Amino acid sequence: MSQILKARPASVMEASYNAQMIAFAPLVFQAAKCMRDLGILDFMSTKGKAGATLEEMASALNLTAYAITVLLEIGEKTGLTENRDGTFFLLPTGRMIQSDQMTRINMDFTHDVCYQGLFYLEEALKTGTASGLKVFGEWDTIYQALSSLPEKAQKSWFAFDHFYSDGAFPDALPLVFADKPTRLMDVGGNTGKWAVKCCTYDLAVNITILDLPGQLGLAKQHIAQAGVAERVTLCPMNLLDHSVPFPKGCDVIWMSQFLVCFSEDHVIALLKRAADALHEGAVLFILDTFCDRQMNEVGEFCLEASSLYFTCMANGNSRMYTFKSMREFIRKAGLQILDQHDNLGGSHTLIRCALA
Ligand SMILES: C[S@@+](CC[C@H](N)C(=O)[O-])C[C@H]1O[C@@H](n2cnc3c(N)ncnc32)[C@H](O)[C@@H]1O
Repeated sequence: MSQILKARPASVMEASYNAQMIAFAPLVFQAAKCMRDLGILDFMSTKGKAGATLEEMASALNLTAYAITVLLEIGEKTGLTENRDGTFFLLPTGRMIQSDQMTRINMDFTHDVCYQGLFYLEEALKTGTASGLKVFGEWDTIYQALSSLPEKAQKSWFAFDHFYSDGAFPDALPLVFADKPTRLMDVGGNTGKWAVKCCTYDLAVNITILDLPGQLGLAKQHIAQAGVAERVTLCPMNLLDHSVPFPKGCDVIWMSQFLVCFSEDHVIALLKRAADALHEGAVLFILDTFCDRQMNEVGEFCLEASSLYFTCMANGNSRMYTFKSMREFIRKAGLQILDQHDNLGGSHTLIRCALA
C-alpha cells in the first residue's frame, strides 16, 4: 500500500497510516532527501518507462543493494517510487522531489536551516524565543546571524528567501512604478536584489535600503557588481529601535517579505514609523504571502509550515500572517489600503497603502 496524508481519512487504518507517517516523519524526510541526493530518483527518471533494477542502480550509483533497498521500501510506502516485480519506477511525487524547484528549495531549507534546531521547538513555544538558533551560535534572531551562518545554511536560507520574492518581483515592478516614483525606500532590503531590479527597471529612480549592517555588507557587493551603486544609499540600522524615525522624503516605501519577520506589536510599530515618513501623495507597498490569500492548499501548507521556522529559528514570535490580521495592523498604524493585487509570482499579495 502506498498512500499520502489525507486530512479526512476514510478508515481507522488510514488514520493510523497518517499518524505513523507523522511519527516517522524525520526518517521519511531524510530517506527522501537521500534518494534525491544519492542520485536514485534521477537514475530512475532517466530510465523512464523501462524502470531500473536494483543491480543497475547499485552499480551506476556505487551504492550497496542494502542501501538502495532500505530507501526504496520507504519510497514505495510514501508514493515516491513503485516496485513492479523487481523493477523500480519513479512516481509523480518522486519526480517532484527530484526536479521541482520549489520542493528542492523547501527541502534544502528544512534540512540546512531548520532540521537540527527544530529539536528545540517546544522550548521556543514556551519561551517565545528562537530556541533552535542555538545550534548555530549565540544569537537572538536569525537576521543577526545571517551573514555568519555555516555556508550551507546561509545558501539554503538565501535560496528560500529569494525564490519566493524573485518570483513576485517582476509582477510587482509595473505596479510600483505606475506613478513614476523617483525615490524609493526599501525597508529590510537584504542583499539589494529588489534595489538592483528597480534601478534596472527605471533609470531615474534612487533607492535607500534600510537593513542590519551584515546584510548591507552583502548588498554593497551585489549593488556594485550590478553597476548601480551611485543610485543606492545604504542605511545600516536595527529597525526594531522604534525611537529612530525612518528617513523622510521618499515617494514609495517598500516592505517585501519583511513584516512577517516580526511580532504583531513590532509590525504595528514599524507600520507607524512608515506612516510618519509618508508625505501627502506618497505610498507604502507591502509585498507578502498571506495564508488566507493562497490559490490552493499547497500554498497554505507551505506558509503554515514556514511559520514554525519563525517560531523556532527566526525570532520566536513572528509568523506568516493572514491578510485579515495585516489589514487590522495597517488600520491601527493610521494607514488605509488603497488597493491590493493577489497571486504575484503565484503566492504573494501586494498591498498599496496611504495615510488614512
Ligand atoms: C525575509 S528577509 C526579506 C528580504 C527582502 N526584502 C526580500 O523580499 O527578499 C527580511 C529582511 O529584514 C531584515 N531585518 C530583520 N530584522 C531586522 C532588524 N531588526 N533590523 C534591520 N533589518 C532587519 C533582515 O536582515 C532581512 O534582510
